[in-house]
Amino acid sequence: MKKILSLTVNGDTYEVAVSPWKTLLDVLRDDLGLMGTKRGCGIGTCGVCTVIIDGKAILSCLTLALECEGRSITTIEGISSEGSLHPVQKSFIENGAIQCGYCSPGIIMTAKALLDENPRPSDDEIKEALAGTFCRCTGHVKIMEAVKKAAQPAGEGESHAPGK
Ligand code: FES
Ligand code: FES
Repeated sequence: MKKILSLTVNGDTYEVAVSPWKTLLDVLRDDLGLMGTKRGCGIGTCGVCTVIIDGKAILSCLTLALECEGRSITTIEGISSEGSLHPVQKSFIENGAIQCGYCSPGIIMTAKALLDENPRPSDDEIKEALAGTFCRCTGHVKIMEAVKKAAQPAGEGESHAPGK
């Protein structure tokens, strides 16, 4: 039996009827049409489905939609503002960290959650945060570079604007 849920995604509230076993990933893509969050392994090993819930990077394929009522969900669609890309998105483009792009939303959301909490992470902290993500194309070197550049202080590169 379906339950009516009220979900807050990217600042907007949606009422959706969901089955108890439906994942947040499926609701985002199939019910809300937010296709930026990707579907990959479905078992928590690739990271492409990562969204931010209450400030933390969360795998939406392992999260039931029912658990998300009353929480603040941010997807890749919610981090740019007024046509302007988020600094992490810009850094990924500028540093060649995107090839096919399938992993990019999940990794960018993971990096954003890290930088919001820790604006100047060490290399080891970046590696630890990105450990659950997987990119088949770039070999991760340019992704590391892009996250480091996004974290640089203003004046040395693109500053990271926390919050949005
Ligand atoms: S689809 Fe969620 S971790 Fe792979
Ligand atoms: S850019 Fe293709 S999987 Fe990462």
